Amino acid sequence: MGKIMGSWSPAFWYVLVLSFALVVGPGAQGWSKEGHIMTCRIAQELLGSEAAEVVRNLLPHYVNGDLSALCIWPDQVRHWYKYRWTSPLHFIDTPDNDCTFDYERDCHDPHGMEDMCVAGAIQNFTSQLINYREGSADRRYNMTEALLFLSHFMGDIHQPMHVGFTSDEGGNTINLRWFRRKSNLHHVWDRDIITTTMSDYYEKDMEVLLENIETNYTDGIWSSDVTSWEHCDDILSCVTKWALESINIACKWGYKGVEPGTTLSDDYFDSRMPIVMKRIAQGGVRLAMILNRVFGDSKEGFATPT
Ligand SMILES: *[C@@H]1O[C@H](CO)[C@@H](O)[C@H](O)[C@H]1NC(C)=O
Ligand SMILES: *[C@@H]1O[C@H](CO)[C@@H](O)[C@H](O)[C@H]1NC(C)=O
Ligand SMILES: *[C@@H]1O[C@H](CO)[C@@H](O)[C@H](O)[C@H]1NC(C)=O
Repeated sequence: MGKIMGSWSPAFWYVLVLSFALVVGPGAQGWSKEGHIMTCRIAQELLGSEAAEVVRNLLPHYVNGDLSALCIWPDQVRHWYKYRWTSPLHFIDTPDNDCTFDYERDCHDPHGMEDMCVAGAIQNFTSQLINYREGSADRRYNMTEALLFLSHFMGDIHQPMHVGFTSDEGGNTINLRWFRRKSNLHHVWDRDIITTTMSDYYEKDMEVLLENIETNYTDGIWSSDVTSWEHCDDILSCVTKWALESINIACKWGYKGVEPGTTLSDDYFDSRMPIVMKRIAQGGVRLAMILNRVFGDSKEGFATPT
């Protein structure tokens, strides 16, 4: 499959760039490119040797073993006919102003199809990869795609506005200004906070920011939290917990005090930046946890449905 993707790659990249141009703009997309890349870079750093090898083998050759190079792929294909079914898998709509997540009630697509939300997708692709590892893969499923979807959706479920209110589409319809530029509440959390962080504090350089995040979970402010971040007995209760964390942050920090047409600037930025950084770190640490359990040699697995 690497060979197929490799030989297709010029056309693949061309279409990818085109489709990227089409999807930029309003619409729930998930962490920005930077958010997804950092989540996947953090995860890949934390893989044990077994999991690292399986991941490398599933990736097409042209990315040279770099998972993060394809972590935005699910955003790029979601409007293609073949992948239209994946569109509802990027988010969860919860009842307006309720600030709760209930899997049974909320995890479905707009037509009510069960499990078609980001929490259901993480379970789905985790089970597919477990079956693959155990040699019982369903041959209808493409394991490279399962890896990329899982890696992407672990980012999305940690983006607080991806578990938002139904009527404003997770803040997408709340137009406002981010400093002097037009934006919307969803996009502020997907991208604006991250890019402003990079330009104000990290020399506009994602690598410098990423190193700082890594320092903070290895021996900085979050180092004693990592064990609890990784805690996961069964995948259903874990995705539920992560989605609940997001809607709680969305209510407490995302929507709070924000009216359409408002201008968000320093106060909002300063208080939300640490939250966004922590969510990126958590997403990465937890993606590594899943991949290490699914692909690793450790005995520690987890219960999954099916
Ligand atoms: C798996 O998916 C990738 C990405 O869509 C594709 O390039 C590759 O050809 C697929 N592999 C198989 C065996 O279908
Ligand atoms: C699970 O993945 C398969 C394809 O890989 C797809 O047909 C199905 O709709 C997915 N379900 C969810 C909940 O993601
Ligand atoms: C890392 O921790 C320091 C405090 O020790 C903090 O100032 C900095 O903003 C943190 N970095 C990130 C990216 O969150």
